[in-house]
Amino acid sequence: MAACPTPHLLHPLRLGRFELPNNLFAAPMAGVTDRPFRVLCKRLGAGYAVSEMVTSQRALWASLKTSRRADHAGEPAPIAVQIAGTDPAEMADAARYNIDRGAQIIDINMGCPAKKVCTRWAGSALMQDEPLALAIVEAVVAACAPRGVPVTLKMRSGWCAAERNALRIARGAEAAGIAMVTVHGRTREQGYGGVAEYDTVAAVKAALRIPVVANGDIDTPAKARAVLQATGADAVMIGRAAQGRPWVFGEIAHFLARGTPAVAPATRDVQRWLLEHLRDHHALYGEAAGLRSARKHIGWAVRGLPGGEAFRTQMNAIDDAQAQRRALQGWFDALAERHPRLPRVEADPAANDERGAQVAVAA
Ligand SMILES: Cc1cc2nc3c(=O)[nH]c(=O)nc-3n(C[C@H](O)[C@H](O)[C@H](O)COP(=O)(O)O)c2cc1C
Repeated sequence: MAACPTPHLLHPLRLGRFELPNNLFAAPMAGVTDRPFRVLCKRLGAGYAVSEMVTSQRALWASLKTSRRADHAGEPAPIAVQIAGTDPAEMADAARYNIDRGAQIIDINMGCPAKKVCTRWAGSALMQDEPLALAIVEAVVAACAPRGVPVTLKMRSGWCAAERNALRIARGAEAAGIAMVTVHGRTREQGYGGVAEYDTVAAVKAALRIPVVANGDIDTPAKARAVLQATGADAVMIGRAAQGRPWVFGEIAHFLARGTPAVAPATRDVQRWLLEHLRDHHALYGEAAGLRSARKHIGWAVRGLPGGEAFRTQMNAIDDAQAQRRALQGWFDALAERHPRLPRVEADPAANDERGAQVAVAA
């Protein structure tokens, strides 16, 4: 098949005073896109990455979990922090609090279906109450505008199949001063089941002047291109496909620019990236907690690789951070001898559901 480059689909994007280097974004994922992972994604080709959500509940800001989420040391600009909550004044306070701690962009979460968020009527549950959703948008924009901080909105296509109201909310949000909208092409009701649709993204893009980002099930470079073409969206946002494979952003960039798949990364490079990530991860969480929370990242990274499943089982039994680093190093030493380039892993549709299922635990 002849190469079909589409370099016009890959471009920098202006967001407020920031010029994002490209339009390939890492999705916010609670329990996954912490600062070490975001830094790695940006290094390996993502033009932008949003933090895990930070609650608007003041009582929790001092908690270890929230203060870690507000730690942006060493992350390349712009620092984008997602906030989640149900009360306009509280959300405005949360925006100000995070700006004081380094946030340069505030993202409002109307996309997350996790129970813990939804029982408190936050995340995508807000889409069911449009006046409240817009009151939150207005309050957060009013808090951020005097500081020159753009506010963005992430949502689903709607509450349920009969109520795909993303377009109405997006129009209202644009009128209220939102700078960019991301649409995950699933309803709240769908959770992570079924498949994402992109017609709603295309309708939102056609109706708005601000940048619109397409999200949901984009797991290969070819899919990224197809979604950009079908929706006219200004950017794509990738979540689960970046778990354990943050170089996917570079692969998409290569494919859009050249029209041919990138060669697989050198196994030694992957080893180095993963070890650096592991060190950063242990440093942020401390060795005891970091050892446990790193297991999922390692599991995703070796998933589908020859011998990966056996290594994952063995690695999960290790209870010392240094030993975990040594095990990862040793496993990749052996892999690199047999495979100088990372063996290709076929996209596994079942993997997406499984990875999404973690949201209830993580968020
Ligand atoms: C483990 C996990 C955690 C998530 N946490 C958040 C979150 O904190 N905020 C949010 O807006 N979306 C969250 N999401 C949704 C993702 O940002 C994204 O919209 C969704 O996974 C669809 O994109 P994908 O198919 O590329 O993964 C989460 C998803 C997963 C799988």
